Amino acid sequence: MAEKTSRIAGFYKLPPEERVARVAEIAGLDEAAQAHLRNTGNLDAAAADAMIENVIGTMNIPLGVATNLIIDGEETLVPMATEESSVVAAVSNAARQCRDSGGITTSTSGALMIAQVQLVNVANPEYARLQILEHRAEIKAICDDTDPVLLRHGGGFRDLEVRVLEGRRGPMVVTHLIVDTGDAMGANAVNSMAEAVAPSIASWTGGQTYLRILSNLADRRLVRARATWTLDAIGGEGVRDGMLAAFDFADVDPYRAATHNKGIMNGVSAVTLATGNDTRAVESGAHAYAAQSGQYRPLTRWEQDADGNLTGVLEMPLAVGLIGGATRSHPTAQLCLEIMGARTAERLSRTIAAVGLAQNFSALKALATTGIQKGHMALHAKNIAVMAGATGDEVEAVSAELVKAGTVRVDVAEEILQRLRQ
Ligand code: MEV
Repeated sequence: MAEKTSRIAGFYKLPPEERVARVAEIAGLDEAAQAHLRNTGNLDAAAADAMIENVIGTMNIPLGVATNLIIDGEETLVPMATEESSVVAAVSNAARQCRDSGGITTSTSGALMIAQVQLVNVANPEYARLQILEHRAEIKAICDDTDPVLLRHGGGFRDLEVRVLEGRRGPMVVTHLIVDTGDAMGANAVNSMAEAVAPSIASWTGGQTYLRILSNLADRRLVRARATWTLDAIGGEGVRDGMLAAFDFADVDPYRAATHNKGIMNGVSAVTLATGNDTRAVESGAHAYAAQSGQYRPLTRWEQDADGNLTGVLEMPLAVGLIGGATRSHPTAQLCLEIMGARTAERLSRTIAAVGLAQNFSALKALATTGIQKGHMALHAKNIAVMAGATGDEVEAVSAELVKAGTVRVDVAEEILQRLRQ
C-alpha cells in the first residue's frame, strides 16, 4: 500500500483506469475492488470522463418505472432513479387511486429563468436603478446576441427587473434578467447573459459589479398539478380527515413541513435524476419557494371538495430541460425521456409535478392510517433476507416469514433460512 496522501499530481490528466490504479494503491483496494470500479455499466468510462473531473467509475442507482399515471389525459410511464424503497410503489398506488377521477392535471407559468447581476459601490442606488431600467433595449440586445441558438428556438430575453437591497456592507442594486430558456434548463444561457451585461451596468452607473449568476428560486418557472381522489378510492372519510389533519400539521409547523416536502422531493428528485437533470437546482428552488412567505411551508395543499372527496394541489418551481448537460450525454437519461414520452421541457416538468403530488398523497395516506413502516417492511425484509444469505426463491420465502412474524431482523432471517434448508 502506498503512502496515504490526497496529493496526486496530474491526477486529472490520467485516463480513468489509471486513476483507479492510483487510488487503489493509496486506499489499499484489491483487484476485485478495482474491477468493480472499472465496470461502469451502461455509461461508458469515456462518457463519464467527459461529464465530470477525476472520474474513477460510476455510481449505479436503481431505475424503476411508476405505473398508472394519467397526466393531462395521457397515459404516462415515469422512470424514477432512487435508492429508496417504496418511492416508486407509492407513486404507482396514488396514481391508480385517482385514475377514475381523471388522473392528474397540470399547468405551468412558462419557462422563465432569472439571472442576477449584483452592483455595489453606488452612492445613489435608486438613481442607478432607473439608469439600468432605461437601458432595457440595449440589455435585451446584449442578452439575445449572447445566445442566437436560443433565440432561433423561440427563447431569449423577456423582461428586466431592478431591485435595491440594503446589505450589511451598504446598498446593492440587483438586476434581474428574465429569460425564456425554452427546452433548456437554461443555467449556461442566463449565466452567459449576466456576464455579458455586467460591464455595461457598471459603466452606466459608475458602480462595480460582482456576482453574475442565475437564481435557483425559479419562481417564474412554476409548475402546478392537481387531482381528486374520491372517498371510495381512498377508503372513506376517516382516511380523508387524517390526511387533511396531516396537511394542517405541515402547514403550521416547519418541522413537519420539511418532512412533508422531503416526501414530495422523493418523487421529484427521482425523475429529475432519471432524466439527467440537475437535482440540486430543483431542490434548492423547491425549498426556497416553500419558504417564500417567511415561514417554511408545504409545496402541496389538501382540501375536500363539495362532495367530500379529497383534492390535492402542488405548486413549485421546476427548472429542468431536455438539452444540455447530462440530459443529452447520458444514454439512460435519453431512454427515460423516451419512455415517458417527454418531447418538451414543459412536458417533463409537468410530469415531475404530477409525480410529486402523487408521492405526497401516498405518504400522507400511509401516515394517516397504518404508518409508513408497514409498507417499508416488505422490501426491507427482502434486503434482510439477502443479508442473511438467502438466494433465489429463498429470498421471497424468508422475507414472507419475516413479515408474518413481524420481526424483521438478520438473526431471525438466519434462523428461518436454516430451517428452510433442512
Ligand atoms: C420518507 O422518505 C418520506 C416521508 O417521511 C414523507 C412524509 O413524512 O410525508 C414518508
